[in-house]
Amino acid sequence: MAGIPEAIAAAKRAAGYQAADMVEDGMVIGLGTGSTVFHMIERLSGRVRDGLSVAGVPTSYQTAMRAREYGIPLTTLDDNPVLDLAIDGADQIDPQLRMIKGRGAAHTREKCVAAAAFRFIVVVDEAKMVSRLSGVVPVETIPFATMTVMAQLRGLGCRPFIREAVKKDGPVITDNGNFIVDCHFEEIPDPAALEAAIAMIPGVVESGIFSRFTGNTTVIVGCEKKCTVLTSADVVP
Ligand code: 5RP
Repeated sequence: MAGIPEAIAAAKRAAGYQAADMVEDGMVIGLGTGSTVFHMIERLSGRVRDGLSVAGVPTSYQTAMRAREYGIPLTTLDDNPVLDLAIDGADQIDPQLRMIKGRGAAHTREKCVAAAAFRFIVVVDEAKMVSRLSGVVPVETIPFATMTVMAQLRGLGCRPFIREAVKKDGPVITDNGNFIVDCHFEEIPDPAALEAAIAMIPGVVESGIFSRFTGNTTVIVGCEKKCTVLTSADVVP
């Protein structure tokens, strides 16, 4: 966790641990991606060592590798198309529990796993809680159509950029073999409408806007002392 200030790391750890403690014996769960989920995996592995029976569907190669390393049994959506719950991180969450994900380019599998789960538990530190969603919306695109998709994304009012890899020349290639287009929006007044509009563009695989899981979402906002738990019951209409 090098580079993450200790207070933020502690908040992520607290949220991840609290989520891991919500997993019940016999559950099949979605395993999200990212540094906060990493803490959840760490804690869950201790519970598995103590006898908890669980199987996880990983949302990325990174999570699959970590889960294997930490002794968490893995399964697939093919074998378990319906999950008891999914646990994941987020980049921004608004007061209606709509969110933006995809910093790690894993949002397509993350959305598939969230959609398969009865309950979606999202673990974040407080900096992720915002009054309105804005800024970068990651969009996974098939390489063949990326330029025409970008032209259509511009029409939705954003500045789109193909995400560049850090330790590889050229674009980031997702776990699904696609590109990521990071779309910079000044504001996102209607996240559900934007999610639907992006999804309509041929060549788009999935966007990082998660607006349709609010009814079964629980957000755990990590804090060194006591985590805050938010559900749809806390949403002010
Ligand atoms: C990856 C994601 C992550 O869940 C999100 O970026 C949060 O990551 P972190 O817990 O490291 O802040 O959407 O695609």
